[in-house]
Amino acid sequence: MTVKWQPETKVIHSGVGPDPTGVTAAPIVQSTAFAYHSAEELESVFDGRAAGFVYSRIANPTVSAFEARMTALEDGMGGIATSSGMAAISSLVLALAGSGDEIVAGNSLFGGTYSLFRHTLSRYGIKVRFVGPRDPGAFREAICDRSKLIFVETIGNPKLDVPDIAAIAAVARDHGIPLVVDNTVTTPLLVQPKRLGADLIVHSASKFINGHGNAIGGIIIDAGTFDWSSGRFPHLAPFRSRLGQFALLAALRNRIYRDLGCCMAPFNAFLLSMGVETLGIRMERHCLNAARVAAFLSTHPKVADTGYPGLVTHQDHFLATRQFGGRYGALVTIRLGTRERCFSFINGLRLAKNLANLGDVRTLVVHPASTICRDLNDEERLAMGVTDDLVRISVGIEDPADILEDLQTALATL
Ligand SMILES: Cc1ncc(COP(=O)(O)O)c(C=O)c1O
Repeated sequence: MTVKWQPETKVIHSGVGPDPTGVTAAPIVQSTAFAYHSAEELESVFDGRAAGFVYSRIANPTVSAFEARMTALEDGMGGIATSSGMAAISSLVLALAGSGDEIVAGNSLFGGTYSLFRHTLSRYGIKVRFVGPRDPGAFREAICDRSKLIFVETIGNPKLDVPDIAAIAAVARDHGIPLVVDNTVTTPLLVQPKRLGADLIVHSASKFINGHGNAIGGIIIDAGTFDWSSGRFPHLAPFRSRLGQFALLAALRNRIYRDLGCCMAPFNAFLLSMGVETLGIRMERHCLNAARVAAFLSTHPKVADTGYPGLVTHQDHFLATRQFGGRYGALVTIRLGTRERCFSFINGLRLAKNLANLGDVRTLVVHPASTICRDLNDEERLAMGVTDDLVRISVGIEDPADILEDLQTALATL
């Protein structure tokens, strides 16, 4: 029923009701556990023979409403909401790969994801092969018998390079492994990775999905396209024999997610469900404002270089145009020559907030090298496009004239 709706409609109407009380906003069910009239009833819910909630670390009605909304938005088969975007990525990887296994990832990633892949997973015996995300052939070459998934971001953060998702999906399909796409910075309003062949989609819901900088959260969505009977995932066999295509979601819900305890809090699910309702109109405005900001900065004499896939000079402009339907997101980067000039510029801003986040209604700036990417060594930083003179701007939805004036005033101090 909801499938035919456009995304702008799904964000408002999917996931809630029908409910006898007539609520339009998902009620906050702030209950740790759920009581049943008889021991037999509770046993059958535990056993999966009857539907119902048991304990909010495993599932909760408010969280389920958010999962349903996000699943509809990504046209998926089902979703699992997590305590953060990092929890979504780490639990998905752990549900698919174990000690001795490998994953192949584009090397242009959010710093936290890079750190997980580079440092944390290796301690548990999972090797990550990093490749340049702009070359589908490099993914093909990096795949081996132990590879369990390919991972890319729709627009590398903060390098702002764009992988060809359909071409990488074809590589994944040829080798019988799932493609996981992090759709945080584009959101389903710009691209539904499933349409390009992705099997699994993850989000940091803390960004545009929330929109208001007031809740951390994440989500994993199974597009329903991957055949989990593939010999690469023998540990999913018991789930597959009982639940078929839902094998991975069941393995997550009943093993990794339950065992690691990375659940979303009901109140956060409520805030995220409310926030996402305005995603359609916010993304429209974010993209328009970012295009104006990028055009202004790209001709400014104090700016050495401007990164934005919407600029015709950007190396991936034409791919981005095709892949994201002529919209390019809200992230813009500038290079100002030195770290000191970046700091002076940031200190000269009055409207834009200097903080480590993106996708807020407010315009945000950050100097990645000294903050979100400070744990990387020089070589890693360079590979990820994080030079010492780079500032990332997440363009908000304020009046564009005010944003431009703020940037102009700060640049004038250099
Ligand atoms: C592209 C991307 N993925 C994942 C994350 C991690 O999300 P969270 O901060 O919600 O854990 C971030 C955070 O900035 C991100 O930008």
